[in-house]
Amino acid sequence: MADVEALKREAGIEACKFVTNGMKVGLGTGSTVKHTVIELGRRMAEEGLEIIGVPTSLATEKLAIEVGIPLVELSQIDGLDIVIDGADEYDPNFQLIKGGGAALLREKIVAQESAGMVVVADDRKRVEKLGAFPLPIEVTPFSQEATVRKLSRLLDCRVNIRMAGNGPVITDNGNMIADAHTGPNITNPIDLESKILLIAGVVQVGLFNDMCDAVVLAGANGVETIINPNGRLN
Ligand code: 5RP
Repeated sequence: MADVEALKREAGIEACKFVTNGMKVGLGTGSTVKHTVIELGRRMAEEGLEIIGVPTSLATEKLAIEVGIPLVELSQIDGLDIVIDGADEYDPNFQLIKGGGAALLREKIVAQESAGMVVVADDRKRVEKLGAFPLPIEVTPFSQEATVRKLSRLLDCRVNIRMAGNGPVITDNGNMIADAHTGPNITNPIDLESKILLIAGVVQVGLFNDMCDAVVLAGANGVETIINPNGRLN
């Protein structure tokens, strides 16, 4: 079996082909896209690539600074050319589950600001139906139990606040993550996203619908770039 870390690295580096001089680039979060960030830093240092980046988490911000990518805030620019990010699952319609790294809110804001979205992944992330990966939902700590109860009733499944050691995971935005164990049966992610967002205590949900334009996927037989026929990079 191919080494998963090597596959992540291959996908992360290959996706850099979408980045050219002068671009404003959204920098995703996770163990796959970290290789993209490192490679972009290398190209800036060694090949004269000039870009500016917007990070989707404090962890990515730290890495981008370490590798020398100049950063700006979204408020300083009017949109991004592209965002490269990881995913926890993607389905045949290029709909995604994201948020395994608890960065889904900033990731979704940055994705919405971008003219294109490229996902980097190893081939374990390709699924027929979304939902085997517990769906991450960012919730406000105010009355989180009530929000979890509402989510559990709506989705008809177990919903847990994500823990780290003895306490809950706290996101970069000061919120918590509720993981919904729906099982691999999310047939209509667009409808589900809007229903979940109607709950007042929900800040954002890790369903990324109609956002992904291409997936750079690494597997045992190499890396392939799959372009969404209905996407913006087609
Ligand atoms: C973080 C995310 C990540 O992009 C997603 O969890 C994939 O991460 P990795 O590449 O480490 O598997 O959505 O919130």
